[in-house]
Amino acid sequence: MPRGLFITLEGLDGSGKTTQLKRLAAWMQKRGVEPVVTRQPGGTEIGDHIRALLLDSRSEGLAPLTEMSLMFADRAQAIAEVIEPALLAGKTVLCDRFTDSTEAYQGGGRELGSEVVLAMHRIVCGNLQPDLTLLLLPSLEKSLERARRRNDRVQANEGKDEGRFEQEKDAFYRRVWEKYREIAAREAHRVVVIEGDLPIEEVHEQIVEAVAIRLTQLQR
Ligand code: TYD
Repeated sequence: MPRGLFITLEGLDGSGKTTQLKRLAAWMQKRGVEPVVTRQPGGTEIGDHIRALLLDSRSEGLAPLTEMSLMFADRAQAIAEVIEPALLAGKTVLCDRFTDSTEAYQGGGRELGSEVVLAMHRIVCGNLQPDLTLLLLPSLEKSLERARRRNDRVQANEGKDEGRFEQEKDAFYRRVWEKYREIAAREAHRVVVIEGDLPIEEVHEQIVEAVAIRLTQLQR
């Protein structure tokens, strides 16, 4: 059985990733492919506990290295429980965030640097790399505006507090943004960047095109 395709979606909070992930999954289903859809942090029972700890704004005083280690603890569980079994069974995995997020947010945003994140990736995730990463990069201003509005809505409607990252200052997000660009330049063989404040439909079309190209490359 050939190994399944591992696709990740990346971008700032409010970049529209989650909407696009749903659209991509629906597009695949129409073509007879039933993808395994997951997200980080979270996606397993243990991961959901770790997620609550990481995103709750009452989690004050988490040291950057603690935060990074928790992201990898969550990822190790997701790889063991969800991602690796699905890929081995030949399924396509669509994952909302992966190690590029840790490099961008903890490496860039928290200024831990890329090296420590990549070293931890090698230890915890082995050789596992996405076959394709779709990086959504609308303007920083638009992303932040959307993320903050959404967080207020989630808190008002569901009483869930997931705003710890959204409370960060603009300078933090600028560092995250710059690190994403650096990753895209370094990992050009797997990262496709979709830039600008484009309509949802247009982003979807670019995503589908990138997936189709990757599929034909891998089938060769
Ligand atoms: P989430 O609500 O899933 O945000 P989004 O829908 O924008 O992906 O929250 C995930 C938050 O965790 C987001 O602010 C990015 C952050 N994060 C990291 O800082 N490092 C990581 O390794 C991952 C996976 C996420």
